[in-house]
Formats: sequence, structure tokens, C-alpha cells
Amino acid sequence: MSLSPATKAFVYTVIVAELFAVTYFGGTWLLTGSIIPHKEETKVLVAGADAAQEASGVAVAAAPAFDRASYTPDVGRGEKISAKCKACHSFDNGGPNRVGPNQWGVYGGKFGHASGFNYSSAIMEKHTAGAVWDEAALDGFLEAPRTYLPGNKMQFNGIKDPAERADLIAWLKTLK
Ligand code: HEC
Repeated sequence: MSLSPATKAFVYTVIVAELFAVTYFGGTWLLTGSIIPHKEETKVLVAGADAAQEASGVAVAAAPAFDRASYTPDVGRGEKISAKCKACHSFDNGGPNRVGPNQWGVYGGKFGHASGFNYSSAIMEKHTAGAVWDEAALDGFLEAPRTYLPGNKMQFNGIKDPAERADLIAWLKTLK
């Protein structure tokens, strides 16, 4: 059987289109389980990567090493950074407990230092053990509250920049 050139061209076009469709949609389907791109799934994957990164403490881009010993903290900048905390904490002497405990005297104070605040058992176990909010504890907690002290109820992602944490802690030291 011989086909006219026009018929041959048509048949080839159909075959090429089929191959394209199978490659494209088949590939997409293999990757996502659907030929319609999943926005939700992409978000979850990204969030998962974030969490994994936070948990492992590995930074995506190599940040220049921070030399805490030779860094002179900026107390004024620390006070400004505390704006990130004020939705939940008061910082003045005798200030109220809000979502989180009043922060006056937290530096050098025990875990669970504020009276009348209903702390999580994660904080209270540390309190009973006599743990104190020193520089290292505050630095670790403020960098990644959830991984530093699992089970605590401070809903805050943390401050990733070590210089910001150093400034903030220097300001917290003045609250006494
Ligand atoms: C979304 C609310 C929220 C934000 C924002 C927040 N915190 Fe907290 N914080 C809490 C809660 C709630 C607790 C009590 C945790 C527990 O009992 O497990 C807490 C506990 C603490 C503690 C322990 C105090 C103690 O007496 O043991 C410190 C220190 C602290 N926060 C510092 C900060 C700083 C500094 C910031 C800002 C960089 C901040 N928090 C931002 C809610 C918050």
C-alpha cells in the first residue's frame, strides 16, 4: 500500500504529537502524580526542606564566619530588634506576662524566671534542674527555639543572624 505524500505528512505529525504528549505529560505525571502542577505539594516540599535545614543547622549559602569574641554588640540596635518579641513579651520592670513571660531580669535568671506565668514542662524541667539563661543559652534558644528546647511553647522561628542575637542579648543584659 502506498500513501500519498500528504497522508504521510499527516501520519508523521500525529506520531510526533503523540510522542511529545507522552514524554511531556508522562514525565510530569511520573514526577508529581498528576498532569496538573501541584502548587500545594511544591510548598510542602519547600517547607520540609526549610525544617530539615533548621534541624540540621546547615546554612544554604555559606555565611561569613561570625567572630563573637571580637564582636562589639550594639545595645541600641538590640533594643530595636526586640520589636520582634513585643507581640508576646513585655520587657519593663513589673510589666505584664502576655502570650509569653515578662522579660525583665531574664538574663542571668533561671529558666522560668517570671512569676505567675504558666510555663511549659520543657521550661519547668530546666528550672528544676537549676538551668540559667546565660549568654550561650539565650543565643541557642533565640537562634532556633524549637530545636534548642523541644516541647517549649514559644511560637517564634528564631533569629538567624548571630550579630543580631548578640545585639539583642546585650540589650537584655541591661534589663535589671
Ligand atoms: C509568638 C509569641 C512569642 C514571640 C514572638 C517571642 N516569644 Fe519568647 N516566649 C513565648 C512564650 C509563650 C514563652 C514561654 C515558653 C514556654 O513556657 O515553653 C516564651 C519564653 C521566652 C523566654 C524564656 C523566659 C523564661 O522566663 O524562662 C525567653 C528568654 C524569650 N521567650 C525571649 C524572647 C525573645 C528575646 C523574643 C524576640 C526575639 C521572643 N521571645 C519572641 C512567646 C513568644
